[in-house]
Amino acid sequence: MSTTHTVNDTQASVALSQSTMDRFAREVAKYPAEQAQSAVMACLAIVQQAHGYVSLDHEKVIADYLGMPQIAVHEVTTFYNMYNQHPTGRFKLNVCTNLPCQLRDGVTALVHLEKKLGIQMGGTTPDGMFTLQQSECLGACADSPVMLVNDRTMCSFMSNEKLDQLVDGLRASVSGPAQGAN
Ligand code: FES
Repeated sequence: MSTTHTVNDTQASVALSQSTMDRFAREVAKYPAEQAQSAVMACLAIVQQAHGYVSLDHEKVIADYLGMPQIAVHEVTTFYNMYNQHPTGRFKLNVCTNLPCQLRDGVTALVHLEKKLGIQMGGTTPDGMFTLQQSECLGACADSPVMLVNDRTMCSFMSNEKLDQLVDGLRASVSGPAQGAN
């Protein structure tokens, strides 16, 4: 952790740890030298694990490391829900509101969570516990309302009662002050 790699441009700068750069190198080594860009998703995931989100400055470091335009990295960051572009709460709740789910109470679930958590879609609770987001299709339309918790745990048939149980259970599972997600 003693060495850092810094990128400076006219906007900002950021430093990534040596361990993060070592992890980048291990991912890039999985591909032919001329295809280093194939590691972009892995590098974004590594940064998010380390920092909780991927900033524009992080994207710049990754772009330079992989020899690709920053906008190409940004396109990946913004395409996938799993990449956080801002700090999030400890639990990130992504509720699917695509059309098939809209027709089966997806929006009802989102509105219920907004009321229960006291935040609007896209917001984070003041205690840093929950971030509420919309999601694109999660591939489980028949199970609507559906949602993902922290990009990994799929929850199906989320009635208002089940949503209440989920939120209360997540709160109860945490002891001590909330920390950053992921
Ligand atoms: S539209 Fe919601 S899971 Fe497919």
